Amino acid sequence: MAKQIIIAVVVLSVCAWQAHAAVNCTATGAGRQADPDDTTCKNYTLCVYVSSSNTYVSYDYVCPTTSFFDPSVSQCTNSYTCPANTTNSTSSVCTADGFFADPNASNCSSYIECVNINGTYTETSYTCPDTTYYNPNTTLCDASYNCTITVPFSCDTAGRFANTADTSCQTYFYCVLLADGTFTQYNYTCPSTSSFNPALAKCTASYTCTN
Ligand SMILES: *[C@@H]1O[C@H](CO)[C@@H](O)[C@H](O)[C@H]1NC(C)=O
Ligand SMILES: *[C@@H]1O[C@H](CO)[C@@H](O)[C@H](O)[C@H]1NC(C)=O
Ligand SMILES: *[C@@H]1O[C@H](CO)[C@@H](O)[C@H](O)[C@H]1NC(C)=O
Ligand SMILES: *[C@@H]1O[C@H](CO)[C@@H](O)[C@H](O)[C@H]1NC(C)=O
Ligand SMILES: *[C@@H]1O[C@H](CO)[C@@H](O)[C@H](O)[C@H]1NC(C)=O
Ligand SMILES: *[C@@H]1O[C@H](CO)[C@@H](O)[C@H](O)[C@H]1NC(C)=O
Ligand SMILES: *[C@@H]1O[C@H](CO)[C@@H](O)[C@H](O)[C@H]1NC(C)=O
Ligand SMILES: *[C@@H]1O[C@H](CO)[C@@H](O)[C@H](O)[C@H]1NC(C)=O
Ligand SMILES: *[C@@H]1O[C@H](CO)[C@@H](O)[C@H](O)[C@H]1NC(C)=O
Ligand SMILES: *[C@@H]1O[C@H](CO)[C@@H](O)[C@H](O)[C@H]1NC(C)=O
Repeated sequence: MAKQIIIAVVVLSVCAWQAHAAVNCTATGAGRQADPDDTTCKNYTLCVYVSSSNTYVSYDYVCPTTSFFDPSVSQCTNSYTCPANTTNSTSSVCTADGFFADPNASNCSSYIECVNINGTYTETSYTCPDTTYYNPNTTLCDASYNCTITVPFSCDTAGRFANTADTSCQTYFYCVLLADGTFTQYNYTCPSTSSFNPALAKCTASYTCTN
């Protein structure tokens, strides 16, 4: 009997893993977790701890009809605004027309061009020539740019936040709350003609930098 239960658990977890392995239940622990790969905020995974084997069984669900999975309350709600939905683009890099540092190139080796075509951003990634670095100030690749413009900032609330150490007010941080309660931090740069207005939490041409 015990053997049958173990086999059933193994089969269940293998099936769940094969169907979808986006949520690592070992890392997140038991509970309902948003699927981090699902930018539509519809999919989530229920992680169930199996104490006899010290493992997790995962079950994938999709939020019904018009609801979205709100990671802060770990359930589907109609009031949650999906962060990726606010710009309705596959990536949240683009917030305006222009050039943006590639948030996943911490060595400044690449950048992204954003073009708004009838309400949807088209993003094209470019790589700087060898030994040059993307300078967000000039939006050009240059050899003398010092890539290390980092300040100690760490996300504790979801949203966009000014980089107060940046005297040009062009850089800001975008914090996304994950299902496990931690945050993912993205470092963004406003297009050259605009700066980050902390009151509006967006890049505007009219903001006067006071840093
Ligand atoms: C899941 O998370 C655990 C603990 O963080 C880690 O040891 C394991 O390698 C992860 N598994 C996968 C498939 O990423
Ligand atoms: C969300 O779940 C549906 C139904 O299981 C699946 O078809 C879809 O691929 C999932 N989306 C992602 C991003 O995993
Ligand atoms: C998210 O976008 C989809 C279509 O792209 C739309 O149907 C849905 O209403 C949007 N949800 C919110 C909360 O904006
Ligand atoms: C949002 O994006 C989806 C998929 O790319 C598209 O079908 C839809 O028309 C867009 N909605 C708006 C309001 O731009
Ligand atoms: C980094 O950027 C590349 C190219 O734009 C993309 O394929 C990759 O998925 C990104 N990685 C992460 C972790 O976002
Ligand atoms: C920068 O990082 C990318 C991957 O993130 C790597 O391919 C590239 O070689 C790096 N460039 C330099 C100059 O370190
Ligand atoms: C954008 O909208 C305009 C007017 O509505 C239309 O003429 C044009 O074909 C659209 N362009 C694209 C790329 O969809
Ligand atoms: C941006 O560039 C201008 C000149 O192009 C320079 O005066 C200014 O110091 C630069 N700002 C930063 C933060 O590098
Ligand atoms: C770049 O900036 C960092 C931190 O401000 C500094 O330690 C480093 O010496 C600079 N490198 C160059 C080549 O200017
Ligand atoms: C973003 O900025 C933080 C603090 O300013 C820094 O620690 C982190 O390395 C930066 N990440 C990237 C990808 O540039």
